[in-house]
Amino acid sequence: MAPKKPDSAPSPSRLNSRSAQIFERARKVLPGGTSRQATYASPFPIYVRSGHGARVVDVDGIERIDFNNNYTAAIHGYGHPAIEKVVMEQVRNGTGFSFATEKEVELAEILCARVPSIEKIRFQNSGTECVMWAIKAARAYTGRPKVAKCEGAFHGSYDYAEVSLEPTPDNWGTEDKPASIAYTKGTPQHMLDDVVVFPFNDVPRAKKILEAEKGNLSCVLIDPVANKAGMISATREFLDFLRDFCTRNGVLLICDEVLCFRLGYHGAQGEFGIDPDLTCLAKIIGGGFPIGAVGGRDEFMSVFDPTKGKTKVPQSGTYSGNPVTMAAGAESMRLLTRPVFDRINALGERARQGLRRAIKAAGANAQVTGHGSLFRIHTHERTLSGYRSQYPKPDERQRLAQLCEYLLDHGVIIAPTGMCAVTTPMTEKDIDQFVDTVGQGLTTLKLS
Ligand SMILES: Cc1ncc(COP(=O)(O)O)c(C=O)c1O
Repeated sequence: MAPKKPDSAPSPSRLNSRSAQIFERARKVLPGGTSRQATYASPFPIYVRSGHGARVVDVDGIERIDFNNNYTAAIHGYGHPAIEKVVMEQVRNGTGFSFATEKEVELAEILCARVPSIEKIRFQNSGTECVMWAIKAARAYTGRPKVAKCEGAFHGSYDYAEVSLEPTPDNWGTEDKPASIAYTKGTPQHMLDDVVVFPFNDVPRAKKILEAEKGNLSCVLIDPVANKAGMISATREFLDFLRDFCTRNGVLLICDEVLCFRLGYHGAQGEFGIDPDLTCLAKIIGGGFPIGAVGGRDEFMSVFDPTKGKTKVPQSGTYSGNPVTMAAGAESMRLLTRPVFDRINALGERARQGLRRAIKAAGANAQVTGHGSLFRIHTHERTLSGYRSQYPKPDERQRLAQLCEYLLDHGVIIAPTGMCAVTTPMTEKDIDQFVDTVGQGLTTLKLS
C-alpha cells in the first residue's frame, strides 16, 4: 500500500537527511518503520542521536528544544546528572532479579507519602499496564464487569480502555448516548458492550448514562485534563458528581494520572481536589524509564495481596518494580520538590499567555488550552467542551501539521496533536523564544 499522503511536506533540506535514509532501512524490518505509532511521522520521522537538558540532537546534528519530551514523561529533560548517577550505580549492581529490592520500597514510600489517597501501590512497566491492572482490580473488588470512561479520553492500549478513543462524526452516535467504538480493528463486540461511554464535563448526560448502568459498573475512569478531549480541565461539578455517583453505587473511581501527575506535588488529584479509590501513575515517576503504577486505599489494593488467601488479582511482570526504573523514579520524584512544580507550572502559564498574545497578533484561527506545565495548541476557535468540540476538521488538521513542520524546521518540537509540556531544565528565555517562533509560524503560514 502506498504510504499515507502527509498533511504537510517536510522542507527540502530534510528530504535528503540521514533520518530519511534510516527510515528506508526501518521500513524493511519494522511495520511502517517504527515500533510505536506515536513516533511515526509521515513521510518519515526524525531519528534522534541524543538528548541533553531540554534539547535533542537528531542524527543530522540538528538541535531542537523539545516540548514533547517523550509525550511528557521526560520531566527533567535528558541526561539529568543526579538521575544518571543512581541509574549507573544500579546498572553496575544488576538490572533485574527474581527477587524484590529495597529500591521498590523507596519509590513506593515517596509516592504514598505524597498522595493521600494512595495507601498502597504496585508497580508495572507502562501506563497501559497500570490502567489494565486498575480495571482488573475494580472488577475483582466489585464483582461487576463494566467500565465507564469519557468519550475520546486516552487511557492507553488495554482493550477496554481504548474503546471510543477516536470515534468519528459518522460513528460516534448521539451526545445523549455516545456509541462504544472500537479503536483497534478486530476488537470483540463483547468488549465494546462492556464499556460505557459518557461525555466529558457534561453532568446531566453523564448522570443519565451512568445511572442506567450502575448495577453493572466496576469503575469510572477519569483523566481530569484529558488531552484528547481537548486538554480542558474537568469542572468541580463534574468531579463532584463522579465521586458521589461512585460512592453511592459501590463503583470505584479511578483517576488516570499517567499524564497529569506532573501538575503538582500531590498530583492532579491534589490540584483538583479529587479523592479517587484507585490512581494510575506512569511517565514522570520512572525518571525516564518504563514504568506504571496503580495505587489506592488499602481496602481496594488488597485484591493484589497474596498474604490474604488466594490472590484475587495476581499481578506479576518480569520487569515490574525493576531496580533501575525504581532508582531513576525515586530520584526523579526527589528532584520534584514543591518549588520545582511551582516553577514549571508558572512557565506553563507564561507559555499559554504568550501564545494567546501571539495568536492575537497574528490574527490566527487558533487557541491554547492546558493546566500547569501542560498545554495544547488548537488550530480553530470553537468553544471547547470535550472530545466532539475539539475534533479537528480536515483543514484544521492540515494547519496544525503545517505548524508542526514549521516548528521542526525552526528548532522546536511539539506533539503532532499540538500538545506541549514544560521540563525542569527550561527557562523563561526558552519559553519566550518558543512563543516567538510559534508567533512567526502563525504569521508566515497565515493560519487564519
Ligand atoms: C492519560 C494516559 N493514560 C495512559 C497512557 C498510556 O501510557 P503508556 O504510553 O505508558 O502505556 C497515556 C499515555 O500517554 C496517557 O496519557
